[in-house]
Amino acid sequence: MIEIRHLKLIHTVAKVGTLKKAAEKLFLTQSALSHQLKELESRLDTKIFHRINNQLMFTDAGRELLNASEDILVRLEKAQDNIREINQDRMKNYIHGYSHEETTRLNDQAGTIAELLHWDSFWEKGSLILEAGCGVGAQTKIISKNNPDSSFISVDISSISLEQAKKIIHETDVKNVEFVLADILDLPFDDGYFDHIFVCFVLEHLSEPAKALKELKRVLKPKGSLMVIEGDHGSTYFYPDSVSAQNAVQAQVLLQQQKGGNANIGRELYPLLYAHGFENIVVSPRQVYVDDSKPDLVEGFIKNTFTAMIKGVSEEALINKIISKVDMDRGIDDLFKTAKGGGTFCYTFFKAIAVKADILNKDD
Ligand SMILES: C[S@@+](CC[C@H](N)C(=O)[O-])C[C@H]1O[C@@H](n2cnc3c(N)ncnc32)[C@H](O)[C@@H]1O
Repeated sequence: MIEIRHLKLIHTVAKVGTLKKAAEKLFLTQSALSHQLKELESRLDTKIFHRINNQLMFTDAGRELLNASEDILVRLEKAQDNIREINQDRMKNYIHGYSHEETTRLNDQAGTIAELLHWDSFWEKGSLILEAGCGVGAQTKIISKNNPDSSFISVDISSISLEQAKKIIHETDVKNVEFVLADILDLPFDDGYFDHIFVCFVLEHLSEPAKALKELKRVLKPKGSLMVIEGDHGSTYFYPDSVSAQNAVQAQVLLQQQKGGNANIGRELYPLLYAHGFENIVVSPRQVYVDDSKPDLVEGFIKNTFTAMIKGVSEEALINKIISKVDMDRGIDDLFKTAKGGGTFCYTFFKAIAVKADILNKDD
């Protein structure tokens, strides 16, 4: 009869004083919250609040529920802490990990190819945008700055990454981002809560990208857009060519596959979005081409983004016996050779933009 969401409603109203503020805090629309309140009052056949001079005052029945909610929500909080630990376990499958080097790499990656990926990452003024899998905020700082009149809620499953993201955003003086610890597969937001969604380099790591898309679609408004950017390691080629370097790249593809991910997901964005009933899907390949004439990309992309990524997963690839140490080291050396005079390097990212249908499909 009484559900957890009702207890959260009561607890939050007691804390913030009004339904409007409580709705914001709970990531619900005010009408959804009012609906929940009416539903609760009708189930209990009693009033929870009196309205006195526009103030909400608890009735006796409401106070009784408030006391119960405090006990129950504390216990739930504890359970959530335990679940977080379970999530830490799930994060063991995330091949890049959460090291200092990976934070630097994510920031180098985002900065180096910001123009290529984000020249069209704009949303209409006043939009509420979910950034799913924000990591250390490397993309957050770019898209939030480029869209100062929109608000972002950026979520990640890693509390360590979120702390770093908060620090980065604080340093850049951006005020339109809120960070929330959450799993893409089970988001704490109401249906249709967001105007738009942005996802970058995340689906490739999930063993259930389809489940993630379903959940993202749930929290997206009808006619809202989903923007997804993913890489595709099969699109990597370079000069001088080297079988060892190709093997090192393939080692990461196989490692990611063993952990349930897909390093070649870029080419699958269209079919994935199509299969999930998104409409107006437009996929644009974004190729990075590097030679000596682009020293910033030689440094920022070949060395600090791509080769740093292969180096970053090498230890795990060795532990999992995907490649020998000799081959991996040789492959990494050869990747670095493409950054020396006369070398070239090509890699293609895929950016998809699609719209949630106005009329829901039978599976939604
Ligand atoms: C390669 S990083 C990309 C981060 C950021 N989007 C960027 O481009 O810099 C992938 C991020 O996805 C997050 N992630 C993986 N699985 C997740 C899940 N189920 N829910 C939320 N975040 C997840 C990881 O914690 C990590 O921070």
